[in-house]
Amino acid sequence: MSKKTNERVNILLEKMTLEEKVGQMTQVTLDVVLNGRPYNPKKPFLFNPKKLVNVLLKKHVGSILNVPTSEALTREQWYYVVSTIQEKAMKDTRLGIPVLYGIDSIHGASYTQGATFFPHQIGLAATWNLETARAQGEITAYETRACSIPWVFSPVQDITRNPAWARIYETFGEDPYLSAEMGSAIVSGLEGDNISRFDKVASCLKHFLGYGIPLSGKDRTPAWIPEHYLREYFVPSFQAAIDAGAKTIMINSGEINGVPVHANKEILTTLLRDELGFEGLAVTDWEDIKYLHSRHRVAATQKEAVRLAIEAGVDMSMVPDDLRFCDHLIELVNEGSISEERIDLSVRRILKLKYELGLFENPVIAEGENYEKFGTPEFLEKAQAAVAESITLLKNEGKALPLSTDKKILVTGWVAESMRSLNGGWSFDWQGLTSEEFAKDKTNLLQAIENEVGKNNVVFSEGCKYDEVVNLEDAIQKAKDVDHIILCLGENSYTEFFGDINDLDLPKAQIELAQVMIKTGKPITLVLLEGRPRIISSIADGIGSILLGYYPGQEGASSITEIIFGKINPSGKLPYTYPRHSNALMSYDHKHAEAIEIQGSEVPFNPQFEFGHGLSYTEFDYGNILLKKTILTKSEDLRFSFSIKNIGDRVGKEVAQIYIGDDYASITPPVKRLRAFQKIELQPGEEQILEFSIPMKQLAFVNTQNKWVLEEGTFKVFVENLSAAFELKNI
Ligand code: BGC
Repeated sequence: MSKKTNERVNILLEKMTLEEKVGQMTQVTLDVVLNGRPYNPKKPFLFNPKKLVNVLLKKHVGSILNVPTSEALTREQWYYVVSTIQEKAMKDTRLGIPVLYGIDSIHGASYTQGATFFPHQIGLAATWNLETARAQGEITAYETRACSIPWVFSPVQDITRNPAWARIYETFGEDPYLSAEMGSAIVSGLEGDNISRFDKVASCLKHFLGYGIPLSGKDRTPAWIPEHYLREYFVPSFQAAIDAGAKTIMINSGEINGVPVHANKEILTTLLRDELGFEGLAVTDWEDIKYLHSRHRVAATQKEAVRLAIEAGVDMSMVPDDLRFCDHLIELVNEGSISEERIDLSVRRILKLKYELGLFENPVIAEGENYEKFGTPEFLEKAQAAVAESITLLKNEGKALPLSTDKKILVTGWVAESMRSLNGGWSFDWQGLTSEEFAKDKTNLLQAIENEVGKNNVVFSEGCKYDEVVNLEDAIQKAKDVDHIILCLGENSYTEFFGDINDLDLPKAQIELAQVMIKTGKPITLVLLEGRPRIISSIADGIGSILLGYYPGQEGASSITEIIFGKINPSGKLPYTYPRHSNALMSYDHKHAEAIEIQGSEVPFNPQFEFGHGLSYTEFDYGNILLKKTILTKSEDLRFSFSIKNIGDRVGKEVAQIYIGDDYASITPPVKRLRAFQKIELQPGEEQILEFSIPMKQLAFVNTQNKWVLEEGTFKVFVENLSAAFELKNI
């Protein structure tokens, strides 16, 4: 903290009563101060003056979050919201402390009408493009701050290791390194080097720690994670984003090894503060202190739940509608169960952030700043470029794609008309239910295809809904007169536990439509819009081309179409392993024993598509791998080069992916781990030599004593079809 900020914080803290301090540690959802009931506010939404007085003046609440339930706001409405709150907080309270407003701008300022929507994080991960991630951070910061909101709950740094989990689309996928790199880029885009700027916000890393591997696959259910695995796989993506400067962190709502993370001092204080060096603000997730009592049952009363969480290291409680948190915490301090120094520690962090954000000077938007770039073509183009690089061509038998625009086409499948399937959750409202209404002027897949080839060349048959067939006969009849079928399947929008599933297979009705389309014998392109890899093994063989769009956002349909018809050359690469069977859910960095083919058995590791997979309309030839040294010590870097040549006839982008495998180790080594990557563009015939330098210490792993160790021995580096061996010797 700068000396000046420190002084300002100290002066303010001196003046504060216990009640005012506890208020700063409290965060409510906006509905709590609106007319109507929380989650059912009266429309049009308006502040309720009495509630505002209670929350801001009586309870001294320091932070508010969220959009009114089911109602995306305009920028003008946001201005009304935040300025009303700040006026009350700064003019009518004793100390005039501004409120810290926070929002889930997780793929753009997606709770604001007219904002620029990027692909969800999983699509962004598929770009493997750090510039794109940074650009998303920058535009999200700009457009969120344009709404007078200085704090966004992004990026999600959770590593996903259960493909059924409903929150995969909010993450960067299964790999710690990819997530670390992409997340740090978003943080730097959101925060820059000065969060008080008119176009920057504070980021919030989610959800510390170990959220992405629920054993049941259901959201917020128990995870069992050995500490060495937790440290090696789940910590690094957070560490990297903390090192990139992230100002705040949100806590995992789940439990690890029987201990809810909100009550885990070892994770929230020893690990986060003492080891990872995080100095910022730690906020709970939604209602999670209460859940220590009512859901997790580690606290016999609500008050005890508050004590556990504060002791563990929580700074701010997202209550979000129950202000008894304040009363409990005040009681706990008054009776000596929690010290006032402990309270001061958290309040200091909160006030510091408010000063750093410049909220005391600019509680709403900066004077004279009118954010004329908001929602402009300049930003739109960046979002479309991100989509273009995220779409992943998983299969293209006989180079069926790209299609020529003179083909007669049948578009079928409910997803073709769904804006919700483009936007996913966290779009206009929490579950993304209002996408059809708010994005009605945007283009869905069917419209985008019609725009590309002309309405006369396209016929449509819905074929199915998410889990119900619709007039298959119509689709079969219409397929007779066309040259090609574009089959649009996948998932609807959902968020968190609303997306829980019992079966990872794509629903039967969608499979049935695919099967009857395959029977027509017409060439098919399958476009999948989905938040997680729904299993398609029963239809994948019968389909010539498969494009995975993830949730590309409302600008996505035209980019997908431009890929189908060849205006864009795809370059997305899978950020997760796409499983073939629902009981074969291994990640790419599985152990050797998980892939050994025993005579007569099924191939154990045989996913539908591998992590890192993604085709292009051109081809790249890798060659000449050359290691500078093949015997190295711990302090050295592994330095090597190889060539990539575009041997096709189109310009294309390629992601060089560097994997390293440890041949033998004292803990069974994974077959390989991603250790570096670089995305490049090559003209037809062009060749580039890429050079990499990977510190040997990056090859360390965490042993059963939970310590990072680097063991001597032989390793292999793998790049596409190339490999080379090297050795680590402690000389
Ligand atoms: C989610 C968080 C989100 C928070 C605030 C929670 O339910 O788990 O990711 O930031 O709500 O909306």
